[in-house]
Amino acid sequence: MSSNNDKPLKPFFCRIGNKTPMMKQILPCIPTGYTTYVEPFVGSGAVFLSLPKVNKEIINDLDKPLINAWKLLKTAVVDPNKYDFPFSKSEYDTIISKEKKRDTNKELVSMIQSFVNKKHTKPQNKLLSYLYVCCNGFAGKGRGNIYKSYPQFNRIAKVNDYKMRLQNTTITSEDYKKVVKKHDGLNTFFFLDPPYEKSRELYKNAVIDYIDMADLLSKLQGKFMLTINDSEKIRDIFKQFNITPVKVKGQGNAGIIGKGSRDELIITNYKLGDEEKQEKKEIKGDGFSASLTWKQKFNKELGYDKDEPHDKEELSDITGIPIKYLDEIYDRGIGAWETNIESVRMKDTFKKNPNVKTRSRKLPKEQWAMARVYSFLGGNPKQVGKGKPDHDVLVELVESGII
Ligand SMILES: C[S@@+](CC[C@H](N)C(=O)[O-])C[C@H]1O[C@@H](n2cnc3c(N)ncnc32)[C@H](O)[C@@H]1O
Repeated sequence: MSSNNDKPLKPFFCRIGNKTPMMKQILPCIPTGYTTYVEPFVGSGAVFLSLPKVNKEIINDLDKPLINAWKLLKTAVVDPNKYDFPFSKSEYDTIISKEKKRDTNKELVSMIQSFVNKKHTKPQNKLLSYLYVCCNGFAGKGRGNIYKSYPQFNRIAKVNDYKMRLQNTTITSEDYKKVVKKHDGLNTFFFLDPPYEKSRELYKNAVIDYIDMADLLSKLQGKFMLTINDSEKIRDIFKQFNITPVKVKGQGNAGIIGKGSRDELIITNYKLGDEEKQEKKEIKGDGFSASLTWKQKFNKELGYDKDEPHDKEELSDITGIPIKYLDEIYDRGIGAWETNIESVRMKDTFKKNPNVKTRSRKLPKEQWAMARVYSFLGGNPKQVGKGKPDHDVLVELVESGII
């Protein structure tokens, strides 16, 4: 199977605190010219997977089950047919058609739970089992019970991309200090995303002494970037370095999911100015035009390629919005296409033309429905504003505390 192993990838594993929502701020601040990349607190590797490959790469995390899963991914079986999924695609479709809850279908949840409870010997099943635990369990903590029914067919179908990306990557599970000391050098770049203050209960064994960390970082030959929550204490401990405050919107950066921003810091031992300016220019020239579709805006906000496709399942994972709401918006899009073709945009130009009623000249049904999902996620006022067609879904999301 062929794979372009230098293209940015999204995290394969779900992990609480993953850096996807901050990618837009992080990527322009990554220095150029390093030949060794070290990520001592890799988690799901959102940053690692977004960067181009360099000669030497080391990813590390103290969480042993997570690191075992990364190792399984590196040597993964590529053929999805070799994975003993708890149900086949057709069984999945039949079960979903009985109880249309894609995210919390009880029958599927219990089948996934039984799969996860088994002691697996085949490496591909161990990998799948871990994937279910971290992505179908609670908030990507990687432990606890299964409660989401996503089948994970799509992720497993993409295993080869990740496998190729990891071919020359060293994967370890040690305390970060050991890893930093071992791999320091003039051409090394460290990206550090440690547990934040007050996040101890989220990660096993996570007790970080930030004073020790600042001391270790002050002795580096290489460059480092550290992302951390903003507090007076943190600013004081790291005051000898360059500190850049950034506002990070809620999980998922765009539109209605951007409620509740938090303050974070990017701390580096190199000046951001020049590199940042240079990279920003590149970002401007990366093909994002002035008038973007809602999908393109979404991709831009979250640091994906301009036209990168996402299915509803992925969008639900990325935004934390249960898939039933996205299904609802999607189904409304399908309904609008069927009953109100005048409102659908033209196939080639993406422009409105209410005079054209020929369906074949309009965007296909599914594309139109997905466009509605993206526009909803972007908070399009014509859609979610008071009295507008999807306002009720927005209200339900707010009232149930999801956003
Ligand atoms: C904020 S998360 C990293 C998230 C990651 N940037 C991502 O995009 O998914 C912090 C990670 O540090 C790991 N960790 C905690 N203490 C550690 C230590 N002393 N050494 C190495 N890793 C540690 C945790 O297991 C957790 O995965």
